[in-house]
Parts: sequence; C-alpha cells; structure tokens
Amino acid sequence: MAILKLEDGTKLRELQDIAPELVSLNIQLNHWNVGDNPQIQRLLKQDSLNEDEKEQLLQALDNYFEQLQQTAGYQSRDLIVLHPGIPNLDGMLAKFDQIHTHADDEVRYIIDGEAIFGFVRPDGSQVELTVQPEEYINVPAGTEHWFYLTPAKRVKAVRYFISTEGWVPQYTGREIRDRQTVA
Ligand SMILES: [Fe+2]
Repeated sequence: MAILKLEDGTKLRELQDIAPELVSLNIQLNHWNVGDNPQIQRLLKQDSLNEDEKEQLLQALDNYFEQLQQTAGYQSRDLIVLHPGIPNLDGMLAKFDQIHTHADDEVRYIIDGEAIFGFVRPDGSQVELTVQPEEYINVPAGTEHWFYLTPAKRVKAVRYFISTEGWVPQYTGREIRDRQTVA
C-alpha cells in the first residue's frame, strides 16, 4: 500500500487518508491486481528480464492498457525494469530526481518493487508518495514532481504513453526541501 509523507513528517498509509491530500493535484492512485498466474509471479521475482519476458508480462496485463486506449487515447506501453545490477542506474535516475513537469500525463503501473514520487502542491507544499506493487498512478501533465527509488533500488513499472515525446522532463528549477526515504 502506498505511503504518503507530508512535510511535517506525518506518514499516511491508508488510501482513504492519502486521497484527500492528493486531490488538489488531481492525481489518480488506484489498486490494480496483477493476478496469480504462476508464470507471471515467477517473472516478477526475477531481477532482470529479457525482451521476451517483458513482453509476456505486458501482454498478461494488457487488459489495463486496452481500457486506457479506449477511455483516454493511450497509444503505447512498455515495461521498465530497474535493479541494482544495472550499470549507471544512478546516472539514469538523475534525470528525474529534480523537480520537473511533462507535457503529457506520467502514467505508471508498479508491478514489483517500489518508487517514490514527490509533488509540489498548488499551495507550494511538498509531499512524497511511495508507490508499491499493484498500484497505478496518473500524474497529470504540468504537475511539478520528482522521482527516485527507495534504497532497494528495485522496481518494475509499466509505462503508458499517449506520445513518448510528451514525457521529456522540463525542469522548473525549484528546490526539493526535505528529501528522505519514506520506507
Ligand atoms: Fe517525471
């Protein structure tokens, strides 16, 4: 279950408590089941996946993609697999750990591991949301946010795109006030 950390250090762990804190950002946070297919569960436990294995996972979860295609015009999806064995993982992640926006929504379905999204709310306050397995998040276009991994540095996430150009980061130059891991 997701964890939301407020700037005063309060940690909220229930969706019913977290949702009101994200209302001003129009962020969608939903629970989506991965299912109990043993082959899928086996792939989720692996650190790394080859292209065939990624495609197996994506196809097993394509019912969610089809919904997004029909309701919101999504065009493509891929699977990002991050783990400590990836060379230059920190360098790759550095692109997203400063406050930025995108021209399109940032839409992720976490299926293994976890990741932290930080947000600047309209009142200027900053919050950090740890998103965990079987959680879907939609960060609306234009939302000031940042992204990093917990110390385990492990996540598998399906990314859904209307256009891949839309998610190039635009840095806003604002400072993150109090970064710390929520785990
Ligand atoms: Fe982003």
